[in-house]
Amino acid sequence: MTIRDLTVRADTLAVTWTDMTTTDFPIIWLRDNCPSGLHPQTHERLLDLLSLEDAPVLSSAEFDGDEVHLSYEDGHISQLPSSLLSQHRPGQRAADPAAIEARLWRSEHSVARYPASPIMEDDTALETWMKVTAADGLSIVENLDDRTSAGVDVAERIDFLRKTNFGTTFEVINKPDPNNLAYTSVALPLHTDLPNQEVPPGYQFLHCLANEATGGGSLFADGFAMAEDLRTENPEAFELLCDVAIPFRFHDGDADILVYKPVITLGAAGDVIEIRYNAHLAGVFDMPADIMPAYYRAYRAYMSKTRDPKYRITLKLKAGEMVVFDNRRVLHGRDSFDPSTGFRHLHGCYVDRGEFASRLRLLSGRARATKAA
Ligand code: OGA
Ligand code: ZN
Repeated sequence: MTIRDLTVRADTLAVTWTDMTTTDFPIIWLRDNCPSGLHPQTHERLLDLLSLEDAPVLSSAEFDGDEVHLSYEDGHISQLPSSLLSQHRPGQRAADPAAIEARLWRSEHSVARYPASPIMEDDTALETWMKVTAADGLSIVENLDDRTSAGVDVAERIDFLRKTNFGTTFEVINKPDPNNLAYTSVALPLHTDLPNQEVPPGYQFLHCLANEATGGGSLFADGFAMAEDLRTENPEAFELLCDVAIPFRFHDGDADILVYKPVITLGAAGDVIEIRYNAHLAGVFDMPADIMPAYYRAYRAYMSKTRDPKYRITLKLKAGEMVVFDNRRVLHGRDSFDPSTGFRHLHGCYVDRGEFASRLRLLSGRARATKAA
């Protein structure tokens, strides 16, 4: 949008755009965002906000196409790119290529599949796969090489891995002395991983190297869809799951990791942005007794949704396939398997949401455009 007119008012600069809408920019904001206050290479702000008057006064404002020229009463002169104003209007978040809206799904959903080689070789394929994975919270990468690190290589196309107390990568196999139910052959009901962490890992990658045992099918459900349906059907339960922090704890010989957090976390706009749900790692509830029965009802209402076939999709991973999902949104689980009938081996790792979003912004070319501006 280009500028049609500028009007200096007492505390604001009124910008009228060519579509005849007007935006008011407070003068302190204009002065704070003067490009002369940024380091020329890093683009970080050097200007000390407290070195300014709290109400700087504009004496004049002019524009010529791409630039706005501002003169302040104290003698300061600013040259602001018009795009700074059109992209950062007060009251409106600037467009963000990583802000991809969640497309909620239920059992009828068919999981998007992408071959590994184009993702490894081509940035456009990487971006397409990442955008769909962000929107659905779940995808499958297929035709991976038969190498333990082939899935990690795909994850590292996004960015560095998130280390946890289970290591930087982990082997999901039936182990003789397990410290985690995943490392047994028992069924894992739908859950999110590591809810006991202050910030649970973002995207999870489970690369299937072998799945020859009887059983061992995978299940997935969209935790946001289940939360939104609960909000509609039982608002009181939804609110309790948002408001009451419950303990989640993992402990073994090397770690004792405990956090109090709610099952559902909302963003500033009231949208669901995170689910923490893991019946195995939920600690001993200790909310006041007068709300405990209602909390149990709410928790059981969400738990019932995780058992309801309406939300669940099932599949059996084959060697060379990898499921990729937002662990803070999509719940995952597996059926029990019989280790005497064959070998089952998944190789896992995580990449956090922040790194995922960073790669999406870089792929969009936005950073290059901003530097050039
Ligand atoms: C896990 C897990 C699922 C599976 O490792 O966290 O849930 O299919 N594994 O074994
Ligand atoms: Zn898990």
